Amino acid sequence: MSLYADALKTLTISDLAAMKRAGEKISCLTAYDASFSALLDRAGIDVLLIGDSLGMVIQGHDSTLPVTVSDMVYHSRSVATARKRAFVVTDLPFASYATPEQALLNAASLMQAGGAQMVKLEGAKIEVIRFLVDQGIPVCGHLGLLPQSVNRLGGYKVQGREAQQARQIVADAEKIEQAGASLLVLECVPSGLAAEISQRLSIPTIGIGAGVDCDGQVLVLYDMLNISTGKRPRFSKDFMADASSIEEAVRHYHQAVKSAQFPAAEHSY
Ligand code: KIV
Repeated sequence: MSLYADALKTLTISDLAAMKRAGEKISCLTAYDASFSALLDRAGIDVLLIGDSLGMVIQGHDSTLPVTVSDMVYHSRSVATARKRAFVVTDLPFASYATPEQALLNAASLMQAGGAQMVKLEGAKIEVIRFLVDQGIPVCGHLGLLPQSVNRLGGYKVQGREAQQARQIVADAEKIEQAGASLLVLECVPSGLAAEISQRLSIPTIGIGAGVDCDGQVLVLYDMLNISTGKRPRFSKDFMADASSIEEAVRHYHQAVKSAQFPAAEHSY
């Protein structure tokens, strides 16, 4: 195989695991359509997350709850078709993985029709994760702030500040790894807690509002391009502020993640 073909090869879960072992940070952004997918891919972003945040930034809802499996398939297919190198992770939306069987049916749609290489689900759903992995479906866990549980949590709040809750998040992270997950998103947890989890686990952690010691970082694309409506969350940063184009802003983000310059203390808890 030529060097050129090698350089364009699509990343796999083995590549992401190797990046953690080598101490190379993983850059990740959300993506929802083909144009941004191609641009992010060109800029070198390692992982494209088709997040159910599309319920807010694309569909205009005030939470992720209205998003359906068919919405996710549509956007995942658009992103997966347009990228060459980046690894594609797609969210299982609200109430689409209540049982292992339901999760399998919906994860299969995300992979077969949506082109996903991995599915992400929120919470310590150990039985569901183990079942999906046994069926050959790579899984990304998601702990800390769980946007699909916003009504139970009573708002979008930092999780794991109290010792008991922090211990529960560490225990859940270990169970998720043991169940066979290959990646773990940590959202809005104190930096020290995310650092401890990243050190304990052999699978890569991807942080959002979780400090610089995670193995990678993710942001909602429209937040870091400063085109989301409403207040930008503390953990995000306007990368357009010092860039002359969208592609330059994305390249700055990629470099800032790789060099551990982002997130800074001001973006962390
Ligand atoms: O839906 C999403 O964009 C996400 C990220 C915030 C991690 O799950």
